Amino acid sequence: MTACRLCDASLHPVVDFGPMPVANGFLTPDRYAEEPRFPLDVAVCPACHMVQLVHLVDETTMFNDDYAFFSSTSKGMSRHFEAFAAQVRADWLGDDPFVVELGCNDGIMLRHFGGGRHLGIEPSGNVADAARQIGLDVKSSFFTADLADAIRAERGPADAILGANVVCHIPYLHSVLDGVKRLLGPEGVFIFEDPYIGDILEKTSYDQIYDEHVYYFSLLSVQALAARHGLEVVDVARQPVHGGELRYTLAHAGAHAIRPAVDALRTEEKARGLDRIETYDGFAEAVAASRAELRAVIAEIRARGERVVGYGATSKSTTVLNYCGLGPDDIEYISDITPTKIGRYSPGAHIPIRAHSTFVDDPPAYALLFAWNHAREIMAKEAAWMAGGGRFITYVPRVSVS
Ligand code: TYD
Repeated sequence: MTACRLCDASLHPVVDFGPMPVANGFLTPDRYAEEPRFPLDVAVCPACHMVQLVHLVDETTMFNDDYAFFSSTSKGMSRHFEAFAAQVRADWLGDDPFVVELGCNDGIMLRHFGGGRHLGIEPSGNVADAARQIGLDVKSSFFTADLADAIRAERGPADAILGANVVCHIPYLHSVLDGVKRLLGPEGVFIFEDPYIGDILEKTSYDQIYDEHVYYFSLLSVQALAARHGLEVVDVARQPVHGGELRYTLAHAGAHAIRPAVDALRTEEKARGLDRIETYDGFAEAVAASRAELRAVIAEIRARGERVVGYGATSKSTTVLNYCGLGPDDIEYISDITPTKIGRYSPGAHIPIRAHSTFVDDPPAYALLFAWNHAREIMAKEAAWMAGGGRFITYVPRVSVS
């Protein structure tokens, strides 16, 4: 039995999705022969309650100079990060703060701190360059305790360390939290947000489970982790982005009063059974049922000879397509607005990614909404298509056609 990566207790298996390609590994046909596959299975720790991947994909296989993920493709996310930055400033920062962002991507949030002392840490070279092009100071590196020491020696303690959709990607979290502990000033805060296991269980959004997401945090598991590093959770807030996230604010133990939201959510998580393995066994059953339903809905539409395309070549779609066994015979193409994805093919399933203009010029009868986390923005954009009879197939929180 595999041990918990954070506390060494024996893990309880939850779902085995089978062999998977790299979730963001959009590729061209000449690379099919060398396309790697990895076991994707998720487990829960009965001791510290951390939900986690059992097998890991090498970081450089996922986050390299070919990495196709740019945060700034969604208007909704740009607004979200503007508000995030404003909240950090208002709640936690004084004059002339030093703000560090882990995994700053193309600068979607850090740009709001660009006028002051700031540093982005971004291992993917091409997205780091995009951030530099808007004038941000970015180091192309992974964040470790050693790097934290070097940053503090060079620039002094940090007032805030931020991370959005990045901390859950990092397997060696003990080194990250050691680094945070050493880099933060006495009143400094570490604020990060990631997909929330509470939402994943509630919505059966199993597509959040893919190679990049090593951990699926809850307040309970983050509190256990923080305590091992002399840190504590002082605030927590649910966020409506990426299908449901939780924003955690950590500080040196005793440095700040713990806000009431923390105890309230802890009580709620216990009431929902996030500390019991039976809860996760129930999730496994719901995931299998969701796959069966989605396959049946698409088979029925295809049997009638109607066309189905995918909408949004998300990382999440890689789990759905490969786990459900859907390919180009089921999904004609996937419409996406990201220039680096257009013209490539989806990992594993090898469905072509086409520009949004293809969708507009030759509208299909059905679109499977892989970018369901942007449903409101997308449905507003596609109102005319829907008014003309176009229908979205969704699978979160349950399989439906609308
Ligand atoms: P994202 O939300 O980042 O999901 P993941 O983390 O699973 O990759 O990806 C959204 C994808 O959807 C991205 O490739 C851009 C695409 N997209 C569109 O094609 N049209 C749209 O209107 C929006 C909002 C996104």
